[in-house]
Amino acid sequence: MPAPYDLIIRNGTCVLPWGTEQTSVGVRDGRIAALGVGSDAEATETIDATGLHVLPGLIDPHVHLRDPGNASNPAETMPTGTRAAVLGGIVAVFDMPNTKPPLVDAAGLAVKQDYAERVAWCDIGFYVGATKGNIPDLASLETERGVCAIKVFAGSSTGDLLVDDDDSIERIMRGGHRRVAYHSEDESRLQARKSRFHCGDPYASHMEWRDEETAFLCTRRLMALARRTGRAAHILHVSTAQELAYLKDFRDVATCEVLLNHLTQVAPDCYERLGGYGVMNPPIRGERHREAAWAAVRDGTVDCIGSDHAPHPREAKEKPWPECHSGLTGVQTLVPVMLDHVNAGRLSLGRMVDLMCAGPARVYGVLGKGRLAAGYDADFTLVDLRRRRRIEESWIVSPCGWTPFAGREVTGWPVATIIRGRTVMREDEVLGVPRGRLVAFAG
Ligand code: DOR
Ligand code: ZN
Repeated sequence: MPAPYDLIIRNGTCVLPWGTEQTSVGVRDGRIAALGVGSDAEATETIDATGLHVLPGLIDPHVHLRDPGNASNPAETMPTGTRAAVLGGIVAVFDMPNTKPPLVDAAGLAVKQDYAERVAWCDIGFYVGATKGNIPDLASLETERGVCAIKVFAGSSTGDLLVDDDDSIERIMRGGHRRVAYHSEDESRLQARKSRFHCGDPYASHMEWRDEETAFLCTRRLMALARRTGRAAHILHVSTAQELAYLKDFRDVATCEVLLNHLTQVAPDCYERLGGYGVMNPPIRGERHREAAWAAVRDGTVDCIGSDHAPHPREAKEKPWPECHSGLTGVQTLVPVMLDHVNAGRLSLGRMVDLMCAGPARVYGVLGKGRLAAGYDADFTLVDLRRRRRIEESWIVSPCGWTPFAGREVTGWPVATIIRGRTVMREDEVLGVPRGRLVAFAG
């Protein structure tokens, strides 16, 4: 008699690295023990996944949970943000450092590590923010437990993190080894253009102020520095056709992310319909850029898809431009909206999994996750590709309580989230207690 499994997921359509197969997966001690488990095998728990797709646990590599370690933010906290993640079919998130105070040193990281292991519903990684003052420490910080990457705000966004000059960025690049993640908007161009705009101008002014050249210029500067230093770069939330074309010639040093918002929303519609709830950095732009983002998804230029989940209170989003805060919620709606894109034929389910599992694993060096294969963490997102559902704000658990996708009807829905063998979400219900762990990274 073979040893029984803790869990068998039976008869699902499994998206394996080498293709899609209807098979059963056996789990033991939180890891995938076997694929192709026979019908006579025994398990403590069995999930019948007939009619469902079994995906490797999907990762959102770009969230702002806001929480420095004390759940004090009115718009989002680590407990609520990670709860939102598992409700949305996400097994791991990588959290940005522009908290209050920002995560820029070993003491702040220790607080976050300890806190995450007590309150997080999903697994979690942390970006450490670069400042002009902590450059000598970054090489050591980037190898700490649970750190996915150093994040450089080369242009200013929410919070005070900013390293905008080439000399400092080059020093960062020469200081460590792992891939560095960048918010790429040129700060001097942002500042130079600010006075052309006024309080109360239309929300669409956001994309005129933070224009295409603002993003493209910064990405050109970063690519020149990355080539010169040989340091790998990851350009977060690429928003222009120009950058996507340009980055194809820098695959030796660069990977890139696009956001669901940039694939789904388009100007001027988003500003007319959503007002301040359509404002984010880098901005949502015109149709040409959305088309270019889809082309770059299809031709492999894009490595990762993120939500850039960045909650702000309603009062802050409803202020006139440019006082309205920048950033949209998204971790809970990422998978439903992506599955709807799959159903609409914009990408294959296999490419979606590549973008949300293999992509983050490749870019950040995730160990033991993101792959349905023996020995990997038993992380699964079970999806019903046929389920139709309207995204309602009442479903959103982030305290800010809003989503730019409110009222949108989608086809395809995550019905279960399983993390290291434990079912954490089943049919809208969050189960058990928070058992999130820090994600392990190579290097
Ligand atoms: O729109 C954005 N909001 N872009 C960012 O880069 C930061 C984020 C936030 O933290 O609010
Ligand atoms: Zn972000």
